[in-house]
Amino acid sequence: MILKALYAGLGSISDSWLSYLVTRDDVEIAGLIDLNQETALKKKEKYNLSCPVFSDIETALSNGSFDVLIDNIVPSGRLELAEKALSNGLHVLSEKPLASSMKEGLEINRLSRKYDRNFFVMQNRRYNTNMFTFRNAIINGSAGKTGYLSAEFMLGPHFGGFREEMESPLLIDMAIHTFDQARFLLNCNPVSVYCHEYNPAGSWYKGNASAVCVFEFENNIVFSYQGSWCANGFNTSWDSSWRAIAENGSILWDGTNLPVSDIPVEKIICDFNGHKGCINEMITCLHENRMASTSSFDNIYSLAMVFASIKSSKENKKIYIKELLED
Ligand SMILES: NC(=O)c1ccc[n+]([C@@H]2O[C@H](COP(=O)([O-])OP(=O)(O)OC[C@H]3O[C@@H](n4cnc5c(N)ncnc54)[C@H](O)[C@@H]3O)[C@@H](O)[C@H]2O)c1
Repeated sequence: MILKALYAGLGSISDSWLSYLVTRDDVEIAGLIDLNQETALKKKEKYNLSCPVFSDIETALSNGSFDVLIDNIVPSGRLELAEKALSNGLHVLSEKPLASSMKEGLEINRLSRKYDRNFFVMQNRRYNTNMFTFRNAIINGSAGKTGYLSAEFMLGPHFGGFREEMESPLLIDMAIHTFDQARFLLNCNPVSVYCHEYNPAGSWYKGNASAVCVFEFENNIVFSYQGSWCANGFNTSWDSSWRAIAENGSILWDGTNLPVSDIPVEKIICDFNGHKGCINEMITCLHENRMASTSSFDNIYSLAMVFASIKSSKENKKIYIKELLED
């Protein structure tokens, strides 16, 4: 079956999706939407598409029929777009983050349930051979039970623009990836967090660009996160630098090469890396009518790690994740 896709948001990240989608013969890009028509027209030309271009979803829906909405717009518009798509029978494949607040994320879950349509989220950093290998060593290997996982994320990008003006740029815009990776690696969910968010001397951001978080996960596992977007020198990988300590040994991953360990580690190949891997899984799940591992029902826990961390830092106390999951 060929899925007819309505594509919203033709900004910078859409290249990571469109360059792969146009190679698949089970997806047809059947309509483009962007507030900025010129942006949409440029992408239409770049990918040699023959579909119509719309400026809003209502016009698109009344002029065509679609199976799925691909959402690459900014997070603040996500819930409104999701409501229109889900209530009109479309599944949604969305960029991260799931939503710009917990309230909106929970509402997307409610709508997905109500209209019996799936909302799947891009978490591209789950998909690479090093992550698969690391995860397999933690979950299935001879390491025994894991008690501790840490991620160090130390980078110093000068983005300019909104990230340098917003509150909590690291936690809101980036840490969702690392937190989601931790959940994927441990194959269980967070229980609580204590976080200290800060903006160190020399930072070129207005909001807090650094954070230290201690999460407790199910099975008494501790996940320690130290992150900064204003760290000069000795930068880590964008995938962070990781250490898992288990009963029988430790596994280290520098975020770039294969993980190393004092126990045997089996290499697990990921056939499609990054965006391709996640898009492939989401589309396969739509065809097979099953839940993707990054569905909104799973992803709400990664989102909760972000907002619980911010709350913890503001209130200077430990926050239980379940507090944020209650409607
Ligand atoms: N997974 C990743 O590694 C990764 C990397 C970068 C960005 N992202 C995410 O992708 C999303 C988009 O980021 P970007 O960098 O491409 O932003 P961008 O600003 O380059 O593009 C967003 C586009 O959406 C359009 N738009 C905004 N609101 C709209 C609406 N309501 N209806 C129709 N069009 C609308 C804008 O006109 C713009 O063309 C964000 O959620 C961001 O967090 C993910």
